[in-house]
Amino acid sequence: MYLSIPIIICVLFAGVQQSMGTEISVPCSGAEKSGFEKQSTWDASCTQVCQYTCGSTKETLTNCTTPVTPATCTGTNTCSNTTGCTCPAQITVTTTFEQAVVRTLDCFNTSIKIVLDKCVLNYFGIKLGDLFLGTPSDLTKTQLAAVTPNDTCRGITSYENGPSYVLDYTFAEKDSCNAIIEQTTTELIFKTA
Ligand SMILES: *[C@@H]1O[C@H](CO)[C@@H](O)[C@H](O)[C@H]1NC(C)=O
Ligand SMILES: *[C@@H]1O[C@H](CO)[C@@H](O)[C@H](O)[C@H]1NC(C)=O
Ligand SMILES: *[C@@H]1O[C@H](CO)[C@@H](O)[C@H](O)[C@H]1NC(C)=O
Ligand SMILES: *[C@@H]1O[C@H](CO)[C@@H](O)[C@H](O)[C@H]1NC(C)=O
Repeated sequence: MYLSIPIIICVLFAGVQQSMGTEISVPCSGAEKSGFEKQSTWDASCTQVCQYTCGSTKETLTNCTTPVTPATCTGTNTCSNTTGCTCPAQITVTTTFEQAVVRTLDCFNTSIKIVLDKCVLNYFGIKLGDLFLGTPSDLTKTQLAAVTPNDTCRGITSYENGPSYVLDYTFAEKDSCNAIIEQTTTELIFKTA
């Protein structure tokens, strides 16, 4: 299964930094595909999270190797004191699937950042490991399922604006994603086909 985003016209959005509280630790759940799973440490009010590799030494909000992601449980997801920002058990999509899934787009001169709603995708059985930037023809590449998170076409889990998957795409890497970017005087157009 793949998410088709034929044409995207860019709009700018910004994240919000929050404060920190008591910590809770969330182990790898097996919810993501192999290689894309992360353990996490949250503050009890779900405003900060540290994500780190499964099976490695526990990281706290103060000794987090990678920068702590500002987190918020927004929309229908809620803060749990055992699982951090948690998706609702039931999701009803009242718009098109694409509108329900694509949360924000950040556009820069040489890159584009696509933020997708993790709760909606997971509800329909799509995990981080299923997502990549590219054309439908890429799906014929059998090695895709084994591609690791540091593939430039793949995404990461983020909680910056509620549970989401973030795909950061740099123009210089376009060959690996096999995508097409067109630039006019007023718009950048990102095509996957
Ligand atoms: C981070 O701090 C915790 C608590 O002090 C400690 O148990 C853990 O080993 C530390 N992790 C790293 C990677 O240093
Ligand atoms: C989590 O929250 C529930 C309900 O608010 C409470 O009963 C429980 O003690 C809390 N657990 C922890 C570990 O804080
Ligand atoms: C982006 O490109 C425009 C037009 O080429 C240029 O004027 C602007 O300075 C660039 N911005 C950055 C941050 O490089
Ligand atoms: C991930 O990236 C690192 C650093 O660029 C590279 O050494 C490593 O081979 C990559 N892993 C895979 C599986 O591509």
